[in-house]
Amino acid sequence: MFYLDESLLLGIKEIDDEHKELCLRANKLFDALIAGHVVSEITICMAYFEKYINTHFNNEEKLQQEFNYPMYLNHKKKHDEFKNIYNNLKTEMQIKGITSDFVQKFSATVIDWLTMHLHEEDAGLVKYIKEYRKISK
Ligand SMILES: [Fe+2]
Repeated sequence: MFYLDESLLLGIKEIDDEHKELCLRANKLFDALIAGHVVSEITICMAYFEKYINTHFNNEEKLQQEFNYPMYLNHKKKHDEFKNIYNNLKTEMQIKGITSDFVQKFSATVIDWLTMHLHEEDAGLVKYIKEYRKISK
């Protein structure tokens, strides 16, 4: 189960809500895998990521620029990596359909990447912004 630990909250509602929704989506995918009705969930997930990539990544990148985040370029690179991963998965799904191979690859790739990103790059951003606020008070 994924849940957003208190330490991963930025204190910026829009971004925190997007991260909470991401955890919710990952949990639904996880539940669907266990329950064996993953095909419909993957279709919903793909539509969600399409939106997530375009809005959440942009929101986070804008925020990093506003705060002069020193790791901005590295963080953006990670977002771009995920965009590529997502686009490759999407192409594969369009060509081959949702096969059991695809289900495995999609779930493992997406869940691994997002968990890692949330706990590494995003956690680094949360730490930086919290420090930044303390200093500029
Ligand atoms: Fe991020």
